[in-house]
Amino acid sequence: MKKILVTGAGGFIGSHLARELYRKGNFVRVVDIKWDGYLEEPYYSEKLTLDLRKKENCLKATKDIDYVFNLAANMGGIGFITAVGAEVMRDNILINTNMLQASLENEVKRFFFSSSACVYPTYKQTDANVAPLKEEDAYPADPDNFYGWEKLYTEKMCEAYAKDFGLDMRIARYHNIYGPEGTYKGGREKSPAAISRKVIEAGNPGEIEIWGDGKQTRSYCYIDDCVRGSIMLMESNYTKPLNIGSDRLVSIDELADIIINISGKKISKNYDLSAPQGVRGRNADLTLVKKVLGWEPRVSLEEGLEKTYKWIEEQMQKKE
Ligand SMILES: NC(=O)c1ccc[n+]([C@@H]2O[C@H](COP(=O)([O-])OP(=O)(O)OC[C@H]3O[C@@H](n4cnc5c(N)ncnc54)[C@H](O)[C@@H]3O)[C@@H](O)[C@H]2O)c1
Repeated sequence: MKKILVTGAGGFIGSHLARELYRKGNFVRVVDIKWDGYLEEPYYSEKLTLDLRKKENCLKATKDIDYVFNLAANMGGIGFITAVGAEVMRDNILINTNMLQASLENEVKRFFFSSSACVYPTYKQTDANVAPLKEEDAYPADPDNFYGWEKLYTEKMCEAYAKDFGLDMRIARYHNIYGPEGTYKGGREKSPAAISRKVIEAGNPGEIEIWGDGKQTRSYCYIDDCVRGSIMLMESNYTKPLNIGSDRLVSIDELADIIINISGKKISKNYDLSAPQGVRGRNADLTLVKKVLGWEPRVSLEEGLEKTYKWIEEQMQKKE
């Protein structure tokens, strides 16, 4: 049994991760600034409500802890991170700087940082039929947006804390994680949840709006695979950034068609060309993660989306 801290555990990935670590019999302290997650409680041993932009709160959070999973971040889907720059950079750099320093001062044994596919340079993502991104492709740097720049900077700060102070680091670059119990409304939701919600709201026959021309591409990784990969990475000896994602590239049109098919409705798609779309294409190369962890995703996009769609539908019916 280890004493584990999960920050951002009121959020999507953090709550699922905490639940799995708790199920495995660890002492799990969860911390968040707010608790609007959807998981049924309890999925933790101890819960603290703290603003981790403040160093004294990071010291409280990391006291007597062996392993830190630092997932707290001010973030959202493409709509949010395109619109908001300063707040995202300021909040996340404060959280990450204070969490690293507090972990050092409280002699934490290992620190996990949740980085992102947004660290990869825009010049490698200009074509829908894009080559999968390898970890080494992050440099020369030109991240997608302000959020991606902050993630890349914090990766470097983790490297510096490892080099100068011997803090043991694990760094995951998550690529579009989706699944039940994630945000599906309010402006911070990601494409699988946003399209599911629109399909549920539409009539039958009905229509939905797609952001962009629908030809932009992405790959999507189901939450259970993400949690399993994150725990495997933390337990491994690998200290450099590692992709956790899927290498099945789909267009947003294909994603929407899978969701429409799950719904059983007859839905036509309209395209909003003025909406934010992010990079033209993005895929994850899994060669390195397969080699060092023996990890790859197990849940198909169809299976994962079916579970996600059903969960969102249940939530929306409850609210009626
Ligand atoms: N979901 C993805 O596809 C994805 C992709 C790449 C990287 N990531 C990273 O993984 C991590 C978790 O993402 P998620 O999808 O679960 O996001 P999320 O928004 O659901 O969870 C983040 C949590 O951090 C909390 N938080 C924000 N500011 C805080 C503060 N000042 N103090 C304490 N808590 C604070 C939020 O309240 C939220 O509950 C984040 O670091 C994110 O950048 C996620």
